[in-house]
Amino acid sequence: MYSVREIGINPNHWYVVARSCEVTTQPHAVTLWKESIVLYRQNDGKICALEDRCPHRFVKLSAGEVQGNYLECAYHGWQFDDQGKCISIPYLTEKQKLPRCQLRRYPVQEADGFIWVFLGEENQNIPRFQIPEWDHLNYIATVSVIETQAHYSYLIENLMDMYHGHLHQDWQAWTDAKLENIKETDQEVHGYYQAQSYYKIDKIWSISQLFFPSLRQLHPEPLTVSYLYPHWVSSLGSDFKIYCLFCPINETSTRAYLIHFTSLNAFWRLHKLPIWFRRGLKNMLFGSAQKLLDGLVHQDVVMMEQEQQAFLENPQQKGYEFNPVLGSVQRLIRKQVELS
Ligand code: FES
Ligand SMILES: [Fe+2]
Repeated sequence: MYSVREIGINPNHWYVVARSCEVTTQPHAVTLWKESIVLYRQNDGKICALEDRCPHRFVKLSAGEVQGNYLECAYHGWQFDDQGKCISIPYLTEKQKLPRCQLRRYPVQEADGFIWVFLGEENQNIPRFQIPEWDHLNYIATVSVIETQAHYSYLIENLMDMYHGHLHQDWQAWTDAKLENIKETDQEVHGYYQAQSYYKIDKIWSISQLFFPSLRQLHPEPLTVSYLYPHWVSSLGSDFKIYCLFCPINETSTRAYLIHFTSLNAFWRLHKLPIWFRRGLKNMLFGSAQKLLDGLVHQDVVMMEQEQQAFLENPQQKGYEFNPVLGSVQRLIRKQVELS
């Protein structure tokens, strides 16, 4: 049996490959589980996702340009439409016909600030993961990009194992997590922890607890972590929500987007202000937890890459594990891959 550290993905899901703001009318190259994909935006703003390989001499189409609504290869200028069909070869003589080549075209959606690609067979009607807080006026978002030279299983295990709070010491909103229950299905694993938290954004001054540990007042809060394959979400009490959207690249490389939301729900006076003002405030405060989030991500990345290295040096080696959530996570990964 394959080690979970080398296992593939279930392609029949929507994966995140980029942030919306990363995709412009310049081609943008991404890799989703060993598939090279070129993303670009047409003049009307519509996003296209095509195989990133010119059928002429197999160079990357992402090195080319977008001309109007067509993608043009850098090498000899062949052009392709959004369906992946070759529609022009600049030097074709009258007697020559366009080849009937077809680039693979990926179903793609732009929603909740991200570009989502479906890797599996089309027409499966599998719903995309939802992030309702993204557009909601009461939530302030911060996005941190995780790029790690490690298999995606290390990242999801890191996110599901709240006992690793030890690593972050003063930098996270909770401490002293205790696992109380696990729920496991073929699609999901939920870990229910009880933790001590100082995160209660109900008064303006309470935000300062994030920055000054001596001001912190701890209170018990439920801490829930959920692996909703292939993505992750966590909540701490009612004010704290954090998501991780996965883009596994290959067996030893993973990209993911961590999105932290600060809730303004408790500031009811704010809710009476005009929408334009609230939207302006939401946009102005976007990224306010950036330093904090990037710092946490960096600490995690260092650990995951060491785990990956240790695996590559000695794949047979087994560690000791006391958190049963990790067994559930590994079972889910295997089940999902078997289903595909
Ligand atoms: S390699 Fe793309 S046009 Fe020749
Ligand atoms: Fe962490």
